[in-house]
Amino acid sequence: MIDLVVVGAAEAATMAGPAPRLGPALGNAGLVHDAYVAVDGGRILGVGPMTAIPRDWRLAREVYDAAGQTVLPGFVDPHTHVVHAGDRTGEFRERLRGLSYAEIGRRGGGILSTVAATRAATGDRLVAEARPRLRRMLATGTTTAEVKSGYGLTTEDELKMLDAIARLDEPVELVATLLGGHEVPMEARADPEHYVNLVVNEMTPAAARQGIARFCDVFCESGVFDADQSRRMLRAGLEAGLQPRLHADQLTGCGGAELAAAVGARTADHLEQVSEAGIRAMAGAGVMAVLLPGASFFLGIEHAPARRLIDAGVAVALGTDCNPGSCPIESMAVIVGLACVALRLTPEEALCAATLNAAWALNVHDRLGSLEPGKQADLIAIADRDPAAIPYRFGSNLVTAVWKRGQRVV
Ligand code: NIG
Ligand code: FE
Repeated sequence: MIDLVVVGAAEAATMAGPAPRLGPALGNAGLVHDAYVAVDGGRILGVGPMTAIPRDWRLAREVYDAAGQTVLPGFVDPHTHVVHAGDRTGEFRERLRGLSYAEIGRRGGGILSTVAATRAATGDRLVAEARPRLRRMLATGTTTAEVKSGYGLTTEDELKMLDAIARLDEPVELVATLLGGHEVPMEARADPEHYVNLVVNEMTPAAARQGIARFCDVFCESGVFDADQSRRMLRAGLEAGLQPRLHADQLTGCGGAELAAAVGARTADHLEQVSEAGIRAMAGAGVMAVLLPGASFFLGIEHAPARRLIDAGVAVALGTDCNPGSCPIESMAVIVGLACVALRLTPEEALCAATLNAAWALNVHDRLGSLEPGKQADLIAIADRDPAAIPYRFGSNLVTAVWKRGQRVV
């Protein structure tokens, strides 16, 4: 007898097919009406219409009746800062009174206030603070998430953060990124080059030796790291075996997309201020855009030109950017809703960008991101017969069940 069969789902949005999805293909959610999903040994055995379910798969140790529900792959969140200490509620109040995110940063608040809290925290403390956030992410359907370091800004504290990420790796599966170039720490304000050299010569090789991070990242932004400093840190990552991704063109257009293309980054993220040349460079180099409409919304800034990116042939994924400053949103379903309303994506495009393309962003698309035979059985069920209910019932958690590697976790 097999482990699990989900039967009678009004719809399965399988996302089956090659990744990443580009252009018009992004709207193909691989819909199957009146569907079953069969699972054994943590993997998907088969997906299809109930009329074609093989006799052997009708019975299973767990039978889930999904009548009136939609089944989808678990969300993959390709950009978070969910491991950190403390919160920035006070700063939120200041922003509501009119102070900008950049201005708070210049005054030594912002990222640096989370750096102070994170440095003061033990690894156990970081694990304990992140766990409830990850539980809420799981409850809203996220089964895999990228997590960045970047609030330590010393080699020791960055490795402490990466170690906490490794210790948190269940049931939400985590993919770690070294974000040594997140901000210039207070003690290096007089000599930022000294800090860039530390990231290049000491921190990046140490993180590679530690063996937890798979990617490296930099916040390329005017007043933080310029394109040249960002390039040196990303190249050091590449040499150490960490694939680059980049916070690019968020608050100001500073050539982030062009840099991502030049270094062969896997993704360029944010892109609210991306230039036309940057869009063309990303399309030419096959760099994916990870769009973070929650951060644009929460900061009250312009949204990224999602339709222009898609029309230019850039692959697009969606993420939360969950962090204590620019976006505390934990739910990918909320991000899918924002993507439809603010970025003008269709529900099918947004769901594909939050699953299969997001899995490609983390280079785990061979194993995750769609419901196809052989893939890991990470799936969710939602309480509506139409997948468009996820963006339409904005802010409601419709998730009724979550399976990770075929095990029911919600
Ligand atoms: O992606 N932009 C830089 N980093 C984060 C914000 C981090 C923070 O404010 O703590 C972001 O928006
Ligand atoms: Fe970020």
